[in-house]
Amino acid sequence: MADKCHIYLLGLIILCSPLTGTSEVEHHVFFTDDENVTLPCNNVRSDCTTTEWNYYGEGYSEPDKLFSRGIKKNDTERHERLNLGSDCSLNIYKTTKEDYGLYNCWKNVNGETPYTENVYLHFLHVSPPSTQTEIRPGSSVTLSCQLYSDDRNTLCKKGFNLVWVNESGVNLQTDSRYQISSSPEHCYITLTTTLLNEDNNREWRCQITKGTEIKTSVSYTVKYLADSKTSIGLLLRVIIIIVEIAAVTTPTVILLQIIRERRAESKRRAETPRRLSETYYNLE
Ligand SMILES: *[C@@H]1O[C@H](CO)[C@@H](O)[C@H](O)[C@H]1NC(C)=O
Ligand SMILES: *[C@@H]1O[C@H](CO)[C@@H](O)[C@H](O)[C@H]1NC(C)=O
Ligand SMILES: *[C@@H]1O[C@H](CO)[C@@H](O)[C@H](O)[C@H]1NC(C)=O
Repeated sequence: MADKCHIYLLGLIILCSPLTGTSEVEHHVFFTDDENVTLPCNNVRSDCTTTEWNYYGEGYSEPDKLFSRGIKKNDTERHERLNLGSDCSLNIYKTTKEDYGLYNCWKNVNGETPYTENVYLHFLHVSPPSTQTEIRPGSSVTLSCQLYSDDRNTLCKKGFNLVWVNESGVNLQTDSRYQISSSPEHCYITLTTTLLNEDNNREWRCQITKGTEIKTSVSYTVKYLADSKTSIGLLLRVIIIIVEIAAVTTPTVILLQIIRERRAESKRRAETPRRLSETYYNLE
């Protein structure tokens, strides 16, 4: 892996130097929610006092300066989640969607060719998230998977692919249970299926791959509401309601019962002679 990068890097230096007068390298880093990522700024020099890190977000006309001459700019919203690694790489903690975009590492040492690296940070996202949906067997579910990238970079046209796989890593494209549609130019893929009883706790994963290499993935786990925790809670509530109803209605019920019994008793008494005479009459 490291060897490959060096060859790649050398190739680009040879290619790019005569064209732009600077050395440029392009990296792709993939992330999901709440991760720590490291953006490389490979340079033989360990001194980071000339390192600049800039960020070009969606629709930015001006870069957001993150580090200047190796010192963190503290006026950016995200500065608390950033730090500089000992090799001048940029660490971003607790990533969020807002972090995707183009990052540029730049070094300029007197008398040398300025050295820059472009790092594209791509955010992979699945919606809805597993925990926020109320689903039940028999209902249909559609999961959308989107790669958010700087729009200067159409990654899914460059050999990167989005796929839906199951827990065994098998591509679900050819499984007739699932309808999968994708929009490669937008790095977007959806999975639709009708949920079965046995799908509870089943996991489907959207992953971005290049060749056989998995860059990152996001999973969706099916959770039916009738889970042990919920059903115990539900059962307790039902019991409480029954007890409450009983507490309110028992005295009334007993009272009604007494009244009913008394009425039946007096009716019986009143009816007894007639019944006897009826019997007598019928016998005739
Ligand atoms: C991210 O880094 C912080 C600080 O070093 C650490 O506490 C946390 O566990 C890390 N999170 C992950 C997902 O690696
Ligand atoms: C930012 O840094 C400057 C100088 O290093 C300091 O004076 C200022 O108080 C800092 N601001 C914040 C919000 O931390
Ligand atoms: C994954 O899908 C394949 C093909 O549809 C199937 O044979 C396999 O059992 C599935 N694995 C799991 C864990 O669902």
